[in-house]
Amino acid sequence: MTVPFAPARLLFGGDYNPEQWPREVWAEDMALMRRAGVNTVTIGVFSWAAIEPREGEFDAGWLDDVVALLDAHEIGFFLATPTASPPPWFTRAHPDAMPVRPDGTRLSHGSRDTYAISAPAYRQAARRVARFLAERYGAHPRLRGWHVHNEYGTVDHGPHAAVAFRRWLEKRHGSLEALNAAWNTAFWSQRYDDWDEILPPCATQYLHNPAQAVDFKRFCSDEMLAAFAEQRDEIRAAGPTAPITTNFMLPTWNHLDQWGWSDHLDLVSVDHYLDTPGPDGEAHVAYGADLTRSWGGGPWLLMEQSAAGIRDGARQAVKDPDRMIRNSLGYVARGSQGALFFQWRASAGGSETWHSAMVPHAGPRSRTFEGVVELGALLDHLQEVAAPPHDGRVVEADVAVLWDADGWWSLETPHLPNDDLDYATEVRATHRALWRAGVAVDFVRTGADVARYRVLFVPTLMAVDSDTVAWLTRYVEAGGHLVVGRFTGVADEHQRVVPGGYPGRLRDLLGVRVTEHVPLAPDESQELSDGSTVVQWTERMDPPRAEVLATYSAGTLAGSPAVTRRSAGAGTATYVSAGLTQESLDRFVAALLARHGVRPVLPGAVGTGVEAIRRRGAAGTYLFLLHHGDRAVRVAGPGHDLVSDAPTEPGIVVPAGGYAVVREAPGATWSVTTL
Ligand code: GLA
Repeated sequence: MTVPFAPARLLFGGDYNPEQWPREVWAEDMALMRRAGVNTVTIGVFSWAAIEPREGEFDAGWLDDVVALLDAHEIGFFLATPTASPPPWFTRAHPDAMPVRPDGTRLSHGSRDTYAISAPAYRQAARRVARFLAERYGAHPRLRGWHVHNEYGTVDHGPHAAVAFRRWLEKRHGSLEALNAAWNTAFWSQRYDDWDEILPPCATQYLHNPAQAVDFKRFCSDEMLAAFAEQRDEIRAAGPTAPITTNFMLPTWNHLDQWGWSDHLDLVSVDHYLDTPGPDGEAHVAYGADLTRSWGGGPWLLMEQSAAGIRDGARQAVKDPDRMIRNSLGYVARGSQGALFFQWRASAGGSETWHSAMVPHAGPRSRTFEGVVELGALLDHLQEVAAPPHDGRVVEADVAVLWDADGWWSLETPHLPNDDLDYATEVRATHRALWRAGVAVDFVRTGADVARYRVLFVPTLMAVDSDTVAWLTRYVEAGGHLVVGRFTGVADEHQRVVPGGYPGRLRDLLGVRVTEHVPLAPDESQELSDGSTVVQWTERMDPPRAEVLATYSAGTLAGSPAVTRRSAGAGTATYVSAGLTQESLDRFVAALLARHGVRPVLPGAVGTGVEAIRRRGAAGTYLFLLHHGDRAVRVAGPGHDLVSDAPTEPGIVVPAGGYAVVREAPGATWSVTTL
């Protein structure tokens, strides 16, 4: 049973932790929330000790009061189950339920996320508190949704994990014989004769077995999903209730197979924190939003972002209010049903005292809060975009990029030909090139229906199973244009190399046979015959059964093919064996898109600093124009700008740092002129 997530308006607000404050502050919170137009908060995250002060003894009087206060101020809420932060009593009662690191260190409370996901005592306690909350608040009319746990991702290597891992392996491999073959345990005498001999990849003398390491990642994702599902089922068993989600984490958290998880959520939500204070942050917003929309398959929710800070190494860089607003619109443009933050009020103490918030330590008389008020008013103006289209997608894209959790986990194997090849970096580089080209992008999983995409990118995918090969082959033969990056298909799903030349199972489709990987030194680069610059990675291949688009120009590879394209059926399969720099990748991608007729969302905007995104809604399409550049532009075409409430003919000016959200006339064309 799934509960549809269909809020009538864009949600605006953030994590609210009243338990950290005296009640006088609650009254001020309500007044400020009203002033800012906050309509949704998330309560209860990490509140376990306040809800269940002693094992099995609940005290939710304070939470009743918070809910009543929100209700009186017409503010909706997501209710979190607090299970990401077991209280000290839990550790004392169940020391075995604390997580164990690979080196055997058993963690203790004193921070958060101290739980062993496979420990029966933890699972039981989590179910109990979820059930308590569901029975008490599940039918509340202002409950917008359940926020189960918070950012699943604590990995345990202890005895409970070992037992559950063995069970999982038995299910996956069927027999020890099959496991020994899949893990190639003949290497270094690792043969297993008894399931009980198998351990999680704990600290050991040298390199782990890579198949064991990837299987453990898969197991952890499944185990956390099972824990989530238990809480979800408790909540549902308590009666009809609101949609259920848990917040995924971007950009570096790689503990979950988000595609598999999304199938079990009523709503996909994400926490997204920029990882650079520079202009590339705008591309990063697009990346996070496109990924989450794709995981969710439709409207989704930005559950957390930062109000005013960007963590940049040791410093907390400032995120200016105009950027915070443009970023928020960037998520909404790509299908988020709102913009929520961590957190409402900056904490006065505790581990995240210096994290930014909607109400900073300085209070409401601050640039940050003024920006928050401005965003609240703006989202209120944009309510009509929240109504989903009657059919079809929220954002239409002609291009897709494969996202694969296994792909990331495989590439974490150490001692590859070049360990600098990083999965998320490669996927982001491809997405960045597409973003710079101004086109709309979806992410897809293996096996998805990709017939609608003119171009499909597989930036790198070390391990490929035979179903994936068949899927890619069908895509190309039916007329798709596939672009495959280096070090793809070299291994099977158990990380075992496919012999006979790389890229293994993809040799036939791509028409190439690579005989040697030739990684470059960190300071080495070379040019290709088409002028591209190559770093990190090159490959030696036989004369291909494919057209050669570019050759290497230096060293022992001089004159040999670097980029190839093979026609197959009605489509093409391109192979890029070299590590292109971002600028070269940008040029390569732009040329490829032009060749296959993929058009930017707003051709005139490319190169002006204006990012254009089209979101479909029930009443038509909306063109979001986010100006990240430094010279104002005039935009003209038939429509109405919801931000300035002005017609867009004969034209509107979008200042540097500004934005517009235009309800377009059907089939409108647009001109963009830099002023
Ligand atoms: C995560 C958590 C929040 C908070 C923020 C800080 O997203 O969910 O509780 O710790 O990070 O950035």
